[in-house]
Amino acid sequence: MSQDAQKKAAGWAALDYVEKDTIVGVGTGSTVNHFIDALGSMADQIKGAVSSSEASTERLKALGIEVFDMNSVSELSIYVDGADEVNHDMDMIKGGGAALTREKIVASIAKQFICIADGSKLVEVMGTFPLPVEVIPMSRAAVAREIVKLGGDPIYREGCITDNGCHILDVHGLSITDAKALEQQLNNVVGVVTNGLFARRGADVLLLGGPDGVKTIK
Ligand code: 5RP
Repeated sequence: MSQDAQKKAAGWAALDYVEKDTIVGVGTGSTVNHFIDALGSMADQIKGAVSSSEASTERLKALGIEVFDMNSVSELSIYVDGADEVNHDMDMIKGGGAALTREKIVASIAKQFICIADGSKLVEVMGTFPLPVEVIPMSRAAVAREIVKLGGDPIYREGCITDNGCHILDVHGLSITDAKALEQQLNNVVGVVTNGLFARRGADVLLLGGPDGVKTIK
């Protein structure tokens, strides 16, 4: 099964977690695009979605799914999103698509985080995928200097402006053994909006595509 076929299988498997007449939290990325397509098949059975990016919003609306402003929604039963890396503790690195801040915000009001991914995303130790950090533009160099002190090698993602008008530093050279602590440490650096570690609020369910189908890990 190709990587995209694994993503598609995981995306469609997430449909089992969607409850009728609810508002669904929707992430961003190529795996989530398959989930959105799947959600489109039951558009008339859900109330709508809260979206984590302009790209997902556009795709949801094109399928006739109403997109709610998160300020009008207090709780979601599920949030479905992909990951760049996920470990066996269900900690994740996210933000390859630069949507990390809104993803973390939407995930924060969900009872269950359903991670959908192809098999290549499951790792023993996170950090091979460079950790995205969203920063206020004027603080970019100052934040980069602080990240170097923490042992990382930050590279400016040139040309990338997030949906929030911010910049991304991709941090190379980390071997992340205490994801919760690093997530907190990075959040404490002045100028950081969010970092791509999702450990303090990790996934509750991982739907992992593989050559033999989708494995459910809890
Ligand atoms: C976007 C993300 C994505 O979920 C992550 O990059 C995985 O993407 P894909 O499903 O395309 O592999 O965090 O900000």
